[in-house]
Amino acid sequence: MNFGLKRLNLAKNIPVSKKILEEIFDETGFDQNNLSIRETNRLATIISKKSNIEFIRMEMGIPNIPPSNIAKEAEKEAIDKGMQGFYPPFDGIPELKFAGSEFVKAFLDINVGPENVIPTCGSLQGGYISQALAGNMYPGKDTILYLDPTFPVTRYQAKFLGLNSKGIELYDNRGDELIKAINEKVENGNIGGILWSSPNNPSWSCLTESELEGIADICDNNNILAIEDLAYLGMDFRKDYSQPHQKPYIPTIGKFGTKWVTLISASKAFSLPGPRCGLAIISPKLDKMEFQGLEDFCGRKRFGHAFSLGGLYVTTSGVSHTAQFALAKILKASTDGEFNFVKITSEYGERAKHVRKLFLKYGFKQVYKKDMDETVGDGFYLTMSYPNFDGNNLMLELMRYGISTITLKSTGSNRHEGLRICISFVDLKDMPLLEEKLKRFMETNT
Ligand SMILES: Cc1ncc(COP(=O)(O)O)c(C=O)c1O
Repeated sequence: MNFGLKRLNLAKNIPVSKKILEEIFDETGFDQNNLSIRETNRLATIISKKSNIEFIRMEMGIPNIPPSNIAKEAEKEAIDKGMQGFYPPFDGIPELKFAGSEFVKAFLDINVGPENVIPTCGSLQGGYISQALAGNMYPGKDTILYLDPTFPVTRYQAKFLGLNSKGIELYDNRGDELIKAINEKVENGNIGGILWSSPNNPSWSCLTESELEGIADICDNNNILAIEDLAYLGMDFRKDYSQPHQKPYIPTIGKFGTKWVTLISASKAFSLPGPRCGLAIISPKLDKMEFQGLEDFCGRKRFGHAFSLGGLYVTTSGVSHTAQFALAKILKASTDGEFNFVKITSEYGERAKHVRKLFLKYGFKQVYKKDMDETVGDGFYLTMSYPNFDGNNLMLELMRYGISTITLKSTGSNRHEGLRICISFVDLKDMPLLEEKLKRFMETNT
């Protein structure tokens, strides 16, 4: 009760004056028209301290559900066995490779062998290596096509690798239109890889099986690598993906075609961002295929070897034993029906539902609100705009009320009026404070 009162008191210092905000920009040297996520995060901390206001932090896409004891115990066990004294096999420990193949059979209904499951340092490393290979498998195909909006880091990776990038706005192109739009983009022959996340960060659109089949056909017919990023595995809570070996299965490119890599992140689905262990599942047929371009690029002709010996070995030489044991145990417990990872993460859907309702109540509009003919699900992100504001001004204005977000523009979206709002750090107990802030914002801006 007292805690609630204290929090409402803090809401009294809003909005922070424009002068204070200007001073902070002067001191930090940050460009208010081009803030990175980290700068926004830093800015929120400075404003919060300087003006004594409590922030509702919605800028970072970081998980916020405690990890399970299964992972903790497995890590301890690996330490007790002295595993830190050994280099891990760089293509993964047998326990994790096996658990990964069983897991994808149980939840994605795809058949791959343990040899097709490669642990990576977060799914980000899987994306990095996949993009490097995609851009070098065939001469002249040095461009990655993203289904936007896109997790910005993925695009930075292509830039870092010296690859070019192109985008298609997914929201405006769904179903047959998406396939048509991709076909048009691949026509000039320079696309080496197509990368998307599903659910999409941040629009939360989910690709359908027929779209995935269409993408697989395009990739197979045009020598393109399909890179599917399942960072938010099973988190389309409109469907119940929680039961192993039962329909519905999580839609995946792995059901179609031959030229694909599917990335599974442990960060959100299993609340395990710290150990930095994800999985790259390589199409069994692609695994064995040989490419002269890869031989020239990294000294390995066969795709699977180029991934592990070419990419993993020369970057991190594998993933720590402890992290691999933790993920192996979690995957096994999930496959055996002893750990319901979907039920645990559905907490994010609950938080999003409340946050969405509050924003809409105070005059905001949901930017991406449809997923083809359905209403988009409540998941890890929301996208919002406010009448007569462009995204950057809205982001800066909300800062004055103690709400930190990022612009959709920074995610490659063409909806420059909107913001990406991550709900992971908004607890149900934070709702009154968020409501107070939004109410004050609306009062000032109508
Ligand atoms: C779409 C997407 N891919 C990958 C990642 C990172 O995953 P990991 O922590 O497994 O590297 C994120 C994290 O926010 C993400 O949103």
